[in-house]
Amino acid sequence: MLTQSKIQQAEEALQKAKVKMNHRYRLGYHIMAPANWINDPNGLIQYKGEYHVFYQHHPFDENWGPMHWGHVKSKDLVHWEHLPIALTPTEDYEKDGCFSGSAVDDNGVLTLIYTGNIFVDREKDIVDQSQCIATSVDGIHFTKEAANPVISKHPKEGSGHFRDPKVWRHGEYWYMVLGTRKGNTGKVILYKSKDLRQWEYLGVLAESDETLGYMWECPDFFELDGKYVLIFSPQGMEAKGDLYNNLFQTGYLIGEYDYETNKFIHGSFTELDHGHDFYAVQTLLDDKGRRIAIGWMDMWESNMPTKEDGWCGALTLPRELTLGENIEILMNPVEELTFLRELKNSVCTDKSFSGTHLVETKEDLIELKLEFDLTKTAAESVGLKIRGINQEETTLLYQIENQKLTLDCTKSGKGEDGVRRTKVESNQVLSLRVFIDRSSIEVFVNDGQATLTSRIYPKEERLGIELFTENGDAHVIDFTYWKL
Ligand code: FRU
Repeated sequence: MLTQSKIQQAEEALQKAKVKMNHRYRLGYHIMAPANWINDPNGLIQYKGEYHVFYQHHPFDENWGPMHWGHVKSKDLVHWEHLPIALTPTEDYEKDGCFSGSAVDDNGVLTLIYTGNIFVDREKDIVDQSQCIATSVDGIHFTKEAANPVISKHPKEGSGHFRDPKVWRHGEYWYMVLGTRKGNTGKVILYKSKDLRQWEYLGVLAESDETLGYMWECPDFFELDGKYVLIFSPQGMEAKGDLYNNLFQTGYLIGEYDYETNKFIHGSFTELDHGHDFYAVQTLLDDKGRRIAIGWMDMWESNMPTKEDGWCGALTLPRELTLGENIEILMNPVEELTFLRELKNSVCTDKSFSGTHLVETKEDLIELKLEFDLTKTAAESVGLKIRGINQEETTLLYQIENQKLTLDCTKSGKGEDGVRRTKVESNQVLSLRVFIDRSSIEVFVNDGQATLTSRIYPKEERLGIELFTENGDAHVIDFTYWKL
């Protein structure tokens, strides 16, 4: 009952906050909380035929605070319905928040596995974390397990910072990965269980060498086209040229895994996305066999202007992960996102131009597809600008000789830290698929070879989309955009 009345209170707080919210930057087709704060996606699962996404949520404030689990579901990964808050911190073992975790379907019982957080000494960053369970048979109301926490003591290879359980089934067992640290070494540790309640510790799955950070958050481990992938979010990596330019990163290790020996032999760390705002990614496997990833579309300690509007944070579009020829992860928007398309505008096909070409549109919500034939392009660089009516613009620029793609949001709300850059090796075609929402941009390059995800905060009305070349002609294969 305590839980129900706490959920009621939180829902009432959200109703009040919704009324006061300023909508200027509210997103048109991304998952957000009804109001107030949201961070990591949690508990991604397809349950009884519907996709469920939970998220870290503070329903009482636009700032991070004692974490709850918000909840949405969808039949098509595009249209999301808000459900009541799923978890509130009511018990001693989670008194400072129900932290991130995952969901499994345990014979029809929707089971959430999450971290109970206790701050022992916030100043000194000492926490006492444990792993907990909550179950539901209707997929809406959750009951916490009386025997919580199900894992209360960290192994000697870790510390009180051990959190963000991702659980999956393999054969007769459930497996769990957790992120942890020992001193200044980030790690992912592994457990197994027959019943989700009693867990056996199996050891360290992977850990930082000197370069991969002091803490690894939000691990996820799965098979992808015959290889094993460990996604995680390391904290404390140093920037290196165009790499690791955000405060924290999200990326992956890929290799071979043996369930008999629990050995994971892998290559080096690769960033998953190259924009400003992509963190704490989690995946699900759906009934079509697709591995679908969703991330938090913000970054800790970044400038978040929507706080003054009474809300903060959003999740990325769902992306399908596949393996590329060079054993790298490709990320593409799930195909259902085409359901968002309303009005189609075919601007041009098979056409050369030089200089600038402006397509006027006031639309805020746009998907656009732009393909250049680089074999017929003499220009040094090509690109596009999403332009505001006066000074504002978000720029994508591809330099053909050094094969670098730059996203520049300096003039759309990011200021000094506005530029992110990545290498896109291509001699033939540069294909950009770009999703623009009121305060976000997601760029998918060459069928998922690279992605760049950033929040933008334009203040001006939109003027349009401008194609440009620098020093020469470019050949456009296709330029189409849709109002969403
Ligand atoms: C990642 C994270 C997780 C933690 C949660 C708390 O962004 O720090 O490690 O469980 O957020 O909200």
